[in-house]
Amino acid sequence: MNQQDINNLNEKWKNLSTVEILHQSYKIFNDNVAFSSSLGFEDQILTHLIAKHNPKISIFTLDTGRLFPETYDLIDRTNARYGMNIRIFFPDAKQVEDMVNINGVNLFYESIENRKLCCGIRKSNPLNRALTGLDAWITGLRRSQSITRVNMQVVEWDEMHQMVKINPLINWTETEVQNFIKANNIPYNTLHDKGLPSIGCQPCTRAIDVGEDLRAGRWWWELPEQKECGLHKAR
Ligand code: ADX
Ligand code: SF4
Repeated sequence: MNQQDINNLNEKWKNLSTVEILHQSYKIFNDNVAFSSSLGFEDQILTHLIAKHNPKISIFTLDTGRLFPETYDLIDRTNARYGMNIRIFFPDAKQVEDMVNINGVNLFYESIENRKLCCGIRKSNPLNRALTGLDAWITGLRRSQSITRVNMQVVEWDEMHQMVKINPLINWTETEVQNFIKANNIPYNTLHDKGLPSIGCQPCTRAIDVGEDLRAGRWWWELPEQKECGLHKAR
């Protein structure tokens, strides 16, 4: 696919519902498209819609080894609710061993370089493995989540992974997300009720104050424009 094909798809899909976008994605890419779920609110909506309307789309998650216990519980609850098996990708043991033995177990607080090294080994490398052989991947990204995401489109060319990236919820507002979760009784991370709207690894996520940016609790010691872990390039 070239940039013109991507533009055409965005034009063609601009009035489609999220379910229709998922449906079209499978129609084009067949088994070579998969959904990457972090089990956040948005991802749970996509999991719900895939389970109900597009069960052939496979779902995977990246277990960094540093997730919250509540996130592991949610993996189990989601599998049980939808009768599915979210595929788990784990980091390379040797790479993690070398990293923590050289830089310490909590290296990410020391410098941005260390934080990026950890995200690279625990998230980006397993993602590369998960995406091997695919032509497209689906994410739960939304524009209003962060200043790094305001220019993102429903369909994009993912330069980093050399494949198509599809963001079916890109235009959803926070209120729409919340309403949909409630109306459909979708399982979600219990930490969301404790002031954590955006959840990643346990050491790199904290609760936010009222009025703060939704992702303010992620890598809170870094500047907002630096806060992408390497899975998604800021646009
Ligand atoms: S992050 O880049 O800052 O971690 P965020 O948590 O907002 O991203 O999630 C954005 C999208 O990236 C998710 O909807 C999901 O598609 C993907 N993603 C992020 N973390 C993971 C993960 N651990 N496993 C699988 N997909 C993930
Ligand atoms: Fe490592 Fe933190 Fe990145 Fe998780 S979010 S991979 S613990 S630096």
